[in-house]
Amino acid sequence: MRMRKKKNGAARIEACRELLITEVEKLKEEPQYAFPTKRPLHLEIGCGKGSFACGMAKASPGVNFIAMEKVPDVACLALEKAKKCAQEREDNLRFLIGDAKNLAEWFPGSSVDCIYLNFSDPWPKSGHAKRRLTYHTFLALYQELLVPGGVLAFKTDNVGLFDFSIEEFKAFGLETEWITRDLHASEHNEGNVMTEYETIFSSKGQPIYAARLRFPVKEKTE
Ligand SMILES: C[S@@+](CC[C@H](N)C(=O)[O-])C[C@H]1O[C@@H](n2cnc3c(N)ncnc32)[C@H](O)[C@@H]1O
Repeated sequence: MRMRKKKNGAARIEACRELLITEVEKLKEEPQYAFPTKRPLHLEIGCGKGSFACGMAKASPGVNFIAMEKVPDVACLALEKAKKCAQEREDNLRFLIGDAKNLAEWFPGSSVDCIYLNFSDPWPKSGHAKRRLTYHTFLALYQELLVPGGVLAFKTDNVGLFDFSIEEFKAFGLETEWITRDLHASEHNEGNVMTEYETIFSSKGQPIYAARLRFPVKEKTE
């Protein structure tokens, strides 16, 4: 997501400090240290301006939700949005500013129940495939973080990224719970929380591709 540099970005982020994970080094010991209550933990990677995170946190009071974004100026907008609607939900939403490639440094194994990838950057050039958040090296990272049988939920408007990702998921041995090439016309749309990109693309008539998968339970090696 391209964005002009925000004036007073750091000060604006600081004003939302209560929603920000600031002591990243604590996550390894207690990934839910920033929440008042421990609950199943869901993680969104590349949350953009935060509509999905706010909507999901409100709709899922039994879950703690971490929304991660690598661009601070974009995270700033998500934080401000979440602060505005904080009264509408349990105290169950926090933001992490950082890059998904560092996930394993921050989170302990088997600490996350569900990972959401929404409208991830498609990186259409084949030479950039490694940067796609559904490339198998990222899937390996997610598998470490997730509890055995943990869930990966994926939505995109980009058919190229979708087809590529489905192949990556299959090759990695993920089990498909469901898959659709038109989420909004499907039975899986019930309870769907829209993202900013989803709102824009679906208003133009673009179908939304989506899938929900489970990671295989790893066999223990002696
Ligand atoms: C195309 S936007 C989609 C935003 C939002 N999920 C939506 O659907 O409206 C992708 C977002 O993912 C973020 N992002 C891309 N790669 C990332 C990474 N490796 N770690 C964390 N965030 C990332 C980008 O900065 C951008 O804000």
